[in-house]
Amino acid sequence: MVVFRVANVDDVPAIRRISLALGQAEEDSGSDAGYVRFLLSSGTVMVAETVSGSSVIAWGAVKQSRGRSMLTDLFVDPDHQARGVGAGLLRRLWPSGPREPARFTFSSRHPAALPLYARAGLVPGWPLLYMSGDRTRLAAPDGPAHLEVRRVDAATAASADMQLASAGYADVADVSRLAADYRWWGRGQPHSGLIVIDGARPVAAGAATRNTLAHLTCAEGQNAAPAVIAALLTLDAPEVTLCLPGPHPVVRDLLEAGFRIDDFDISMRTPDVDLRPTWVYSPGIG
Ligand SMILES: CC(C)(COP(=O)(O)OP(=O)(O)OC[C@H]1O[C@@H](n2cnc3c(N)ncnc32)[C@H](O)[C@@H]1OP(=O)(O)O)[C@@H](O)C(=O)NCCC(=O)NCCS
Repeated sequence: MVVFRVANVDDVPAIRRISLALGQAEEDSGSDAGYVRFLLSSGTVMVAETVSGSSVIAWGAVKQSRGRSMLTDLFVDPDHQARGVGAGLLRRLWPSGPREPARFTFSSRHPAALPLYARAGLVPGWPLLYMSGDRTRLAAPDGPAHLEVRRVDAATAASADMQLASAGYADVADVSRLAADYRWWGRGQPHSGLIVIDGARPVAAGAATRNTLAHLTCAEGQNAAPAVIAALLTLDAPEVTLCLPGPHPVVRDLLEAGFRIDDFDISMRTPDVDLRPTWVYSPGIG
């Protein structure tokens, strides 16, 4: 027998244990206590527990992202997989059923993951490529697409992002939620936000740490590739990482500069959700 309940901060060690057992040792995963606390404060985190031993055997979370519900994580302890626990947890996290609109996730390639999300009403789209490489091998974008990158605080970048993504309309609550995501992406560093400018016009906004371009919203297709390159060139570390939609026009440029594709997830969304292929995404937060 398994029970499902809303998680709290006391579940952080169990979530870490499950995540490590599944090989999730990196930042922005369940083994990162800061990430789980961020989800507890900004989304809905649930766990599955055995009735007999009161032991936590699975966890998952959903979070609002630009008016849509994003499934950020769904993980079942390896000893308890393939017994309906993942499906049961998903039904609690998304209780309105497969017809509920405005939902998305980035699915792993585990054989049970994509079928679970497809039954929940999501359709698969492009792969989200986890890429890494040496940014010093990238040529600075020049010519008509010459772009300037301003490093700014998280709130300023979030507000520019919202203007770009919503073509001028920005709801106050959405901006404040997005600013929290930006603070998380930048790990609280003072100039973790960035705005890419063409002349006097912002064309992209995002967030970065010293070695990761965590997110980039780019309004126009023609600036998408040069904006990513310009943003990567401002990072401190030479070895950098980012996650890109397979059809993003910069993928080929990065591969030509020696970047690698280390892994990939599959984007999945309800049919009403437009996941733009010209953005840089964070697999956990969107
Ligand atoms: C993916 C995961 C969350 C699923 O949870 P689970 O408890 O193992 O899965 P469930 O038993 O609830 O359901 C899986 C369903 O997929 C079906 N399934 C499994 N492999 C399948 C395949 N190759 N094709 C079609 N369906 C398949 C199963 O038959 C089952 O459906 P059923 O209950 O109607 O028979 C879990 O296996 C897990 O944590 N995997 C490792 C981490 C991971 O990749 N997580 C996903 C992150 S996006």
